[in-house]
Amino acid sequence: MSIIAAASQDAIQKAASILTDGGLVAFPTETVYGLGANALDGKAVARIFEAKGRPAFNPLIVHYLSLEDAAQDVVAPDFAKELAAHFWPGPLTMILPRARERRVSELASAGLPTLAVRVPAHETARKLIKTCGFPLAAPSANRSGSLSPTSPQHVADSLGGAVDMILAGGTCAVGLESTVIDLSADEPVILRPGGVTAEDIERATGLTVFYDGGDHGKPRSPGQLLKHYAPKIPVRLNAVDVSPNEALLAFGSVKFMGVRGGGFAKDLPTEKLKNLSETGDLYEAASNLFSMLHALDKSGASAIAVMNVPDQGVGIAINDRLKRAANA
Ligand code: TXA
Ligand code: MG
Repeated sequence: MSIIAAASQDAIQKAASILTDGGLVAFPTETVYGLGANALDGKAVARIFEAKGRPAFNPLIVHYLSLEDAAQDVVAPDFAKELAAHFWPGPLTMILPRARERRVSELASAGLPTLAVRVPAHETARKLIKTCGFPLAAPSANRSGSLSPTSPQHVADSLGGAVDMILAGGTCAVGLESTVIDLSADEPVILRPGGVTAEDIERATGLTVFYDGGDHGKPRSPGQLLKHYAPKIPVRLNAVDVSPNEALLAFGSVKFMGVRGGGFAKDLPTEKLKNLSETGDLYEAASNLFSMLHALDKSGASAIAVMNVPDQGVGIAINDRLKRAANA
């Protein structure tokens, strides 16, 4: 029996009862698929770490229906409220001090005094949280260190029987994990670049925020320390040509790109050539990134050559993921 179910009202009801009983359900969000458990149930949260093979020092994001709901578990300063008004529901996660009342499992925040909270926009995610009546702790629904899933099949391939049910809700519109912004210190800092960019935040609030360079001490987000987002075959960045045994992840036109030893990249078989965006649209590229890396990983090529992606706007998030994929 397949554990993948279309997200009908019945399936959502069933998923909610699995979660109420302490089980794990993968569900779609606008960023990537999440592996959900009841955030208030420590044993259920522990099952997430086990299913993913995730180090217990790496905290999880807790998903809510609204800022009001999240405010039961974190202390939200005015700037957090302003960000929520502009970007929630949507692909932004805020790190905030935990509220005095400790409803959420300590394991979810890995014992830290802060908690990562997010209000997702995807309809199925929202219906599921509403039906449950409790917040969902949910990392990306993949084995720790491998590619984030943007389809139900990716989840099944990566986690298999470790998950009780997979709610299918199509592909993920954003396609990259949420932007993580730390609001728990004096100055807001983006710990993980994502669909909401520093420019978006500056435009909306007038406040300039910086990306955590990691060069002033250790990165503040434990997850950013890890090997991450890795296909099984090697990834080579800034490729200006392709080797005969490589697949190509293109960005923009491939008209003039050659294959070493003769031939043109544009003539590669379709399974070995994927274009993030032929027109050079960075949002389109972000939404295609993981599914194309998944596909090229399975193409039979011995490595993936990746063309340069401009390091601006959402391109910063794309390059963050590509650099991790290449260093793995
Ligand atoms: O788009 C997303 O954010 C997806 C969907 C399912 O919502 N979730 C996701 O979760 O990407 P995950 O667990 O794969 O990534 C969470 C990141 C990790 O890098 C983790 O270290 C960081 O957020 N994080 C979580 N809680 C934190 C905290 N209290 N302080 C600093 N970093 C934290
Ligand atoms: Mg992840």
